[in-house]
Amino acid sequence: MSNDKIKIAVMVSGGGTNLQALIDKQKSGVIASGEISLVISSNPNAFALERAKKAGIKNAVVSRKECSSQQEFEKKISSLLAENKIELIVLAGFMCILSENFTVKFPKRIINIHPSLIPSFCGKGFYGLHVHEAALAYGVKVTGATVHFVNEIPDGGEIIMQKAVEVEDGDTPQTLQKRVMVNAEWIILPQAVEKVSRELLESK
Ligand code: GAR
Repeated sequence: MSNDKIKIAVMVSGGGTNLQALIDKQKSGVIASGEISLVISSNPNAFALERAKKAGIKNAVVSRKECSSQQEFEKKISSLLAENKIELIVLAGFMCILSENFTVKFPKRIINIHPSLIPSFCGKGFYGLHVHEAALAYGVKVTGATVHFVNEIPDGGEIIMQKAVEVEDGDTPQTLQKRVMVNAEWIILPQAVEKVSRELLESK
């Protein structure tokens, strides 16, 4: 087993509260087998970039809009990952789809956090607040978050961890989103990152 930590890239598009949870849990030692070496944002205005800068983490923007094709978008991301010798990719509020051409190159090396209990409220069109709107519209009494490996099926890869959260009377999509983040996402994403990093480290 090598003593080097697993080099992690976190891919983001927005506020970056899950990135912040990862940064905080790295500082507190919950994440010990991996190290966040790079943050890639698909959005130049994402607040997540400020969080990366404040933590002194190398960061880059690859804007989907500025790429003429999905292929070009993924090629730019792949180059950054290779340049930085990234071994594990964490999608933490990354709002772009990655094609099969990309995901097949990183089997069991891409993980994603999704704000529901998969297989409920997942797949195409279910992202961010829409997920909680759908959960409230359906009337479920329990929802939660899922961390899973990413493959060619949106939100369809093997589940790594899940945590349930109760829906409360009077919840709005916003109040439910916050409870799911605080009570599930910010806890299980760092735990899952450590688990996968440790397994990768042990298999080196
Ligand atoms: C989080 O709730 C995350 O689970 C969700 O977007 C939010 C990003 O927040 N991701 C998806 O819906 C992916 N399908 P953040 O930028 O503050 O971490």
